Amino acid sequence: MPPPASQAHVVSVALSDRAYDVHVGPGVRARLGSVLPAGARRAAVITQAGVGWTVDSGLDQSVFTVADGEEAKSLAEVERLCGAMSQAGFTRSDVIVAVGGGVVTDLAGFVAAVYHRGIPYVSVATTLLAQVDAAIGGKTGVNLPEGKNLVGAFWQPHAVLCDTETLATLPARELRSGQGELAKYHFLTGDNLDALDLDALDLDERIAAAVRIKAEVVAADEREGGRRAILNYGHTLAHAIETAGRYDLRHGEAVAVGLVYAAEVALRLGRIDSERVAAHRRVVSGYGLPDRLPAVLDDDELLALFGRDKKAVDGLTFVLDSDRGVDVVVGVPEPVLREALAAVR
Ligand code: GLY
Repeated sequence: MPPPASQAHVVSVALSDRAYDVHVGPGVRARLGSVLPAGARRAAVITQAGVGWTVDSGLDQSVFTVADGEEAKSLAEVERLCGAMSQAGFTRSDVIVAVGGGVVTDLAGFVAAVYHRGIPYVSVATTLLAQVDAAIGGKTGVNLPEGKNLVGAFWQPHAVLCDTETLATLPARELRSGQGELAKYHFLTGDNLDALDLDALDLDERIAAAVRIKAEVVAADEREGGRRAILNYGHTLAHAIETAGRYDLRHGEAVAVGLVYAAEVALRLGRIDSERVAAHRRVVSGYGLPDRLPAVLDDDELLALFGRDKKAVDGLTFVLDSDRGVDVVVGVPEPVLREALAAVR
């Protein structure tokens, strides 16, 4: 049975003819049948064996299981899924239902974007990371051997169900990784959003608040022409750590260190004061996340990787905090970046 309305939050992503709702709460996966596109005939459920949650669309449904882990995000898997859906006779009158974390919602969303030139999809997000980030906003795609998310499309879901009941069975490390993305939202506000005290909220409310912030940013800049880049707060160092790949930090853990680092950079540029840096450390450690850089990564390597970041079209580019909020800063001087690295060692 769907949970009572009082237990679930519904956040709208206001994208005119592609607007959709995100439902956040315990058990909201039971709402699947009521959020499917009108007239959908069959459902292709895409999931991973390790997800451990099933859904009932109420339609004639076929389940397509992809490999566990990030390996599933490949063009080979897209071809395999499209082939299997074609053999099973799926058409544009049907719907894809993604059930899982960010790997599944990115992959299934991309299959939805390209199968028969685009069919609707609904995401049932079962990890914290997917609920506060990956499943919201229509960025879909897969990896290439040359790098992560290098092939993709903006393709908005028809609805997203963030079932917080699924978080109870999430491995502790996976939960922590999601908390890194959640920590990011403590410092983000959109143009029309009041500063939020996420500390004062319980987990479901925090997730809904994060979704609300993301929804507003996405609605203002769906294709990342500008403002949407603020959602990459903390990610420049995080991507460099992940690309260097010699240290076992999950994405959200790397983002946590990246948030503190970005604060140290902003401090040195006179954008924020030391109290605000302390607030970054407090939020990150409040989630039990790391605020220091692994010693195995040296400054020269990290500096080189900052220059290869997708945002770095005009010198070393960072998303940085200020008393007016977070925005994109180009041409950050190298000595500042080196000094700030020392502050997170
Ligand atoms: N994960 C960043 C974005 O959706 O723009």
